[in-house]
Amino acid sequence: MEIPAIKVENIFKEFKTKENILQVIKGISFELQKGEISMLVGPSGSGKTTLLTMLGCILEPTSGKISLSGEIIYENKWILKDTSKLRRKKLGFIFQMHNLIPFLNVEDNITLLPQLNGVPKVEYIKKANELLGYLGIEDKNKCMIGSLSGGQSQRVAIARSLANNPQIILADEPTAALDKERAISVMTLLRQIAKEQKVAMIVVTHDDRLLPFFDSVLTIEDGYLSKKILANEN
Ligand SMILES: Nc1ncnc2c1ncn2[C@@H]1O[C@H](COP(=O)(O)OP(=O)(O)O)[C@@H](O)[C@H]1O
Ligand SMILES: [Mg+2]
Repeated sequence: MEIPAIKVENIFKEFKTKENILQVIKGISFELQKGEISMLVGPSGSGKTTLLTMLGCILEPTSGKISLSGEIIYENKWILKDTSKLRRKKLGFIFQMHNLIPFLNVEDNITLLPQLNGVPKVEYIKKANELLGYLGIEDKNKCMIGSLSGGQSQRVAIARSLANNPQIILADEPTAALDKERAISVMTLLRQIAKEQKVAMIVVTHDDRLLPFFDSVLTIEDGYLSKKILANEN
């Protein structure tokens, strides 16, 4: 049995506000294998973003256990001391509002993380050009973010999330701002990357038309999560 890319065991999350305690996640468990691309669905406010940010070591759970590629990162507290290093080295994030840095050009946005990781310049430039070629926007490397269309910006955000060769990609509504054709091309690409590079991906989307791109569906509702395996081929 292969070591799962993501293993979540009995995770709880509550938010304390002045008036009350909000139980958002009430003991959820699931696994994702390497190369598995999973759709995360659930009503607005059900805890999808909360779950992704906990997996991304950005938000601390209340209790439970999270292991990434066999390494326990959280068990009732952060086990891993340097969670920001883990984020830089193992994880890729893609958000709806792509969070690109407007005053940097495409290439600098993509190479920021590898630069911080101390990757040599020749290497990160080569990688950025490869990724841009892969995404069909190789001619945009010196363009400022503000001059790009929505679809182009989202592809730059995908290139950026891949620049550090992540083992896991967490994507929060990456296609929400795109029209149907763009959404399909972004999903085609994400699936291809998951399969070719054995990257595990969780993608939040409300668009049922994208179901054929996924291996499984994670449904979160009333604080509980269920997983369903889909029969999509290749
Ligand atoms: N920092 C916070 N403090 C208090 N409540 C929060 C906080 N973050 C999220 N919530 C609440 O947790 C619930 C889940 O939010 P979220 O994970 O953003 O849902 P989704 O992404 O599924 O729409 C919502 O009721 C939201 O208001
Ligand atoms: Mg959300």
